[in-house]
Amino acid sequence: MTTIATFTRNVLLALAFALVAAQGAAIPEANKRDDSPGFVALDFDVTRNPIDLNATSNAIQKRQPLSIPLYSEGPSYGIRVSVGSDQQEVKVILDTGSSDFWVVDKSATCQRLQFCKAFGTFNPQTSSSFKSLGSSFHIKYGDGTTSDGIWAEDTVSIGGVSITNQQFADVNSTSVNQGILGVSRRQTESADPEYDNVPATLKKQGKIKTNAYSLFLNEPGALTGTIIFGGVDNAKYSGNLVEEKVDIDRYLGISLQSLNYDGNSRSTNFSAVLDSGTTITYLPGSLVEDLAKEVGAFLLPVGVDNELYFINCHKNQGTASFTFDNGAKVDVPLSDFTLQNTLGTCLWGLQNADSHNVPPILGDNFLRHAYVVYNLDKETISLAQVKYTSDSNITAI
Ligand SMILES: *[C@@H]1O[C@H](CO)[C@@H](O)[C@H](O)[C@H]1NC(C)=O
Ligand SMILES: *[C@@H]1O[C@H](CO)[C@@H](O)[C@H](O)[C@H]1NC(C)=O
Ligand SMILES: *[C@@H]1O[C@H](CO)[C@@H](O)[C@H](O)[C@H]1NC(C)=O
Ligand SMILES: *[C@@H]1O[C@H](CO)[C@@H](O)[C@H](O)[C@H]1NC(C)=O
Repeated sequence: MTTIATFTRNVLLALAFALVAAQGAAIPEANKRDDSPGFVALDFDVTRNPIDLNATSNAIQKRQPLSIPLYSEGPSYGIRVSVGSDQQEVKVILDTGSSDFWVVDKSATCQRLQFCKAFGTFNPQTSSSFKSLGSSFHIKYGDGTTSDGIWAEDTVSIGGVSITNQQFADVNSTSVNQGILGVSRRQTESADPEYDNVPATLKKQGKIKTNAYSLFLNEPGALTGTIIFGGVDNAKYSGNLVEEKVDIDRYLGISLQSLNYDGNSRSTNFSAVLDSGTTITYLPGSLVEDLAKEVGAFLLPVGVDNELYFINCHKNQGTASFTFDNGAKVDVPLSDFTLQNTLGTCLWGLQNADSHNVPPILGDNFLRHAYVVYNLDKETISLAQVKYTSDSNITAI
């Protein structure tokens, strides 16, 4: 485990680059509509940035709840996408908490040194299919970072499949480290009027049958995971996928019915957002305060005027079980709730959503133990306990 308290953000970024591993697409070219298996599967690289405690506390507190997409430090999922007639390759972060796709323009200003260009940039001048839409793009993420640019359209290739006239943003100024591929719902888009984002266009142009995707974040420590647009890998979960209804506005959230944290069982009655862009789990204050007492988690000040829960790192044996309204159940080992050991004290993987002004969120420490199928057409999320395996049995949805 890496200690983090003394690192600056730039050191964190340098470390992140050292960890980036190259990985190609999971399936061969499937460009022709007729040959398409009806799904698009591709691997992404997992980059493990140490959690930035300041970003976890300070920045989130400044955000207006539910008004902007969520994004924070911790593991991120780098996906290869090509843009333009000349297939300019960029690696962008896959994010289920936001809906817009944007790339860093070749002549962009990186607000944090030059890091935003390290994952590839886009030059509209060399793409003959590029079309500027003229209107300006602005987005602010949950960690306070922003991107500005112009809306445009061009050919986008992902997992060996190409879609044409895809709306995206060509960004000329950003404080994010890397472009982002947001795959969430229409309501979370930054454009007015709303538009077909990448998963919606994959469906509209016949590459997939359903606007749905399955997410396999893989085991803690793994260097790659997989997303399948329009398909599900039946080898990667145990038991049955149980379908839960998305029951909140804007985000991809479902109702949690109960939580059993190391034998401490609580009934719950709230919706939680399943967000791959958030590292840890945030639950309502009363529940978290109550569980903290039971398990001995304690608040420590972080940065200015902020506090986070910490826990003794040895409290990492046992299980937290999450049960949802229709009976989907996911077990998470407590080792995923004791994060970043610093002299025996760990950041607790469960924090107070209310005091950080965020909705309840089940972040990566939950998501990597579930196999999750987000169905945007049906507005459902199906879950099962994940099975970590390289076996694969993909069927189209
Ligand atoms: C970025 O694009 C916007 C919109 O076209 C423009 O107003 C702004 O001046 C540009 N900034 C830079 C640094 O190019
Ligand atoms: C859950 O909360 C809602 C709104 O607060 C309430 O209407 C509903 O009856 C509650 N359900 C349960 C099972 O407690
Ligand atoms: C966190 O914020 C505090 C107060 O602003 C600052 O002193 C500290 O250096 C920051 N830590 C990191 C890792 O950025
Ligand atoms: C693949 O998954 C389908 C759907 O669950 C199942 O019917 C089939 O038996 C599986 N095939 C193999 C080889 O496991």
